[in-house]
Amino acid sequence: MDNNSEYLHPEFETLSVSEIRDLQLKRLKDTVKHCMNSEFYRKRFQEAGITPDDIKTLDDLKKIPFTTKQDLRDTYPFGMASIPLKDCVRLHSSSGTTGNPTVILHSQKDLDEWANAVARCLWMVGLRPEDVFQNSSGYGMFTGGLGFQYGAERLGMLTVPAAAGNSLRQIKFITDFGTTAIHAIPSYVTRLKEVMDQQGVDPQRDTKLKTLVIGAEPHSEEQRKRIEKMMGVKAYNSFGMSEMCGPGVAFECKEQNGLHIWEDYYIVEIVDPETLEPVPEGEIGEMVLTTLNREAMPLLRYRTRDLTRILGHDCPCGRHHVRLDRMKGRSDDMIVLRGVNIFPIQIEKILMQFKELSTNYLITLTTDGDNDNMTVEVELEELFTDDYSRLEKLTKDITRALKDEILLTPRVKLVAKGTLPVSEGKAVRVVDKRKVYE
Ligand code: COA
Ligand code: AMP
Ligand code: ZN
Repeated sequence: MDNNSEYLHPEFETLSVSEIRDLQLKRLKDTVKHCMNSEFYRKRFQEAGITPDDIKTLDDLKKIPFTTKQDLRDTYPFGMASIPLKDCVRLHSSSGTTGNPTVILHSQKDLDEWANAVARCLWMVGLRPEDVFQNSSGYGMFTGGLGFQYGAERLGMLTVPAAAGNSLRQIKFITDFGTTAIHAIPSYVTRLKEVMDQQGVDPQRDTKLKTLVIGAEPHSEEQRKRIEKMMGVKAYNSFGMSEMCGPGVAFECKEQNGLHIWEDYYIVEIVDPETLEPVPEGEIGEMVLTTLNREAMPLLRYRTRDLTRILGHDCPCGRHHVRLDRMKGRSDDMIVLRGVNIFPIQIEKILMQFKELSTNYLITLTTDGDNDNMTVEVELEELFTDDYSRLEKLTKDITRALKDEILLTPRVKLVAKGTLPVSEGKAVRVVDKRKVYE
């Protein structure tokens, strides 16, 4: 490692566009061949009437059918593996028990490559082995935990696995350990600053903080600027998803002009979510990713459901890995709140387990002061508002059941039948007032 180099992996980071394409084609062919070890892809290729030999150019990628989250659910838990289970060393699983969750398997090589990718991102924004990196992501199944942990260690930083929550302790670590960089969910940075203010800790005066890595949930440019101003440091957008390992997929460089997606690891396509045809370069569409160096569970043409657009290949930082715009929305109804992914159907299924409740409910997402919240209003089948203790117990039970399912605590409000708006046509179940995609 050359501390003075702008690049951690110059041999990959400074490739020209045509060199990137050559490498991608080679890796794509290898990946497709390797996928034939997976029962799922063997069948997919047979059904599509293609063989790995049909993939001769990058354009031939289009011959391969898309892979979806539903495919991951249908093959739960291990049906997508491309290597024997005995050679896998880790799995990450999505939240929720209603319906099948998704499972992503990793070999030791996958974990190594993942750590390299995250280290490369952190290096790109100026972090070096002398830095102290604190990670406020949830650990366990949240890939932001172990993903950043191994990446920051790979770079050589002293790494503090603070994990989510307990803001007082986070602040003590920041001041006592001389933390210079933090990874945090954007909505959590505002909470952290609120507690710093309460404690009389000024990030500029009392800490060594110089870099924030913010990601794992959508946020606007305005929100980023606000975060940078309140903390007095630069905040870089980090994009990742569990299906693609986790963090380390796309990251802003110091220019902050979009997120470089590592094209030696992924092939990016942007398609119209309705027609699934490519959109003209520069237009917003759904991002489709093909992994190029995964061993345990490669994914071909995975529909991420995230909406974004390609900004360009050139950047003053010297990297030609394509720059993506910050995420502009989703083409499905998944909610990302506090870095946690939630499908409304998960909430519905839990609510329907309570016989006291009717089928009408409304999920509202708000930013209240410094916190992002979810309120679940649900109509009672029959009114028993006079029985306060019964109402209180029911509210508590529903809250608990929802927390078990979606991993965060919503505010639950039981309301009288007929209170919630009845929509014409398809019911509106989610109202998002957070303005995260602006
Ligand atoms: N990251 C870190 N801490 C968070 C957080 C977040 N996204 N959202 C809330 N917190 C903090 C709260 O501030 C609170 O600590 P404090 O009171 O000392 O400030 C603590 O977590 C608990 O908050 P509460 O609202 O009571 O918890 P909850 O039951 O709703 O669960 C979390 C919230 C934090 C457990 C859940 O949102 C979580 O695990 N988020 C992290 C997700 C993540 O890491 N995603 C990365 C994906 S790669
Ligand atoms: P997970 O699989 O839990 O890591 O969640 C991945 C999802 O979180 C992505 O598909 C996006 O919808 C969202 N996400 C992650 N990072 C970002 C980011 N930087 N900006 C917007 N959305 C993000
Ligand atoms: Zn750049």
